[in-house]
Amino acid sequence: MGRKFFVGGNWKCNGTVEQVESIVNTLNAGQIASTDVVEVVVSPPYVFLPTVKGKLLVNLGVPWVILGHSERRSLMGESSEFVGEKVAYALAQGLKVIACVGETLEQREAGSTMAVVAEQTKAIAGKIKDWTNVVVAYEPVWAIGTGKVATPAQAQEVHANLRDWLKTNVSPEVAESTRIIYGGSVTGASCKELAGQPDVDGFLVGGASLKPEFIDIINAAT
Ligand code: G3P
Repeated sequence: MGRKFFVGGNWKCNGTVEQVESIVNTLNAGQIASTDVVEVVVSPPYVFLPTVKGKLLVNLGVPWVILGHSERRSLMGESSEFVGEKVAYALAQGLKVIACVGETLEQREAGSTMAVVAEQTKAIAGKIKDWTNVVVAYEPVWAIGTGKVATPAQAQEVHANLRDWLKTNVSPEVAESTRIIYGGSVTGASCKELAGQPDVDGFLVGGASLKPEFIDIINAAT
């Protein structure tokens, strides 16, 4: 079975109740591809979970958690090892995990992108056995909230290398079935070409997930 396209909206700490309700209304009114084709997850600010839960989608619990985001790694000092532990703990509690990895601009310019991404992924791989409920989000730090989206070729290169890493270090089955999604300044304008890359299995979207164009991003693979 192929990897189902996956689109996450990371709302971070944005919004008032009114704004969150308005985003939810936009999503509910939008023409979204069938759930056979795309899996959609939104991550609202913690305080708005009840608002969103009550109004959006069917059977919405809080099944997913985003871990290892670069803002947590850099601002909260979360080490790769700690992220690995959090991923294992979340899975053990029955949550599904979007696990973020990605290099800084300095690391990219130093040619260590894959070494950084491998080190972050290895710290997760060392703590878990079952990858069924894990989506890996490649989020280059230099692309997050900057308007500088990775080119389709840049994204594809890292995603393919990451899949190769999984194949060698975890298993060919996990490499084949694990969704690797891209995050970093994805917009309605950039999503189609990125979605066309063979190893880009979806997106984790920040700023644009608060706007109507999120619908276009959800539908990027259709
Ligand atoms: O987790 C998604 C986020 O870090 C990307 O944010 O605003 O660049 O789409 P943005």
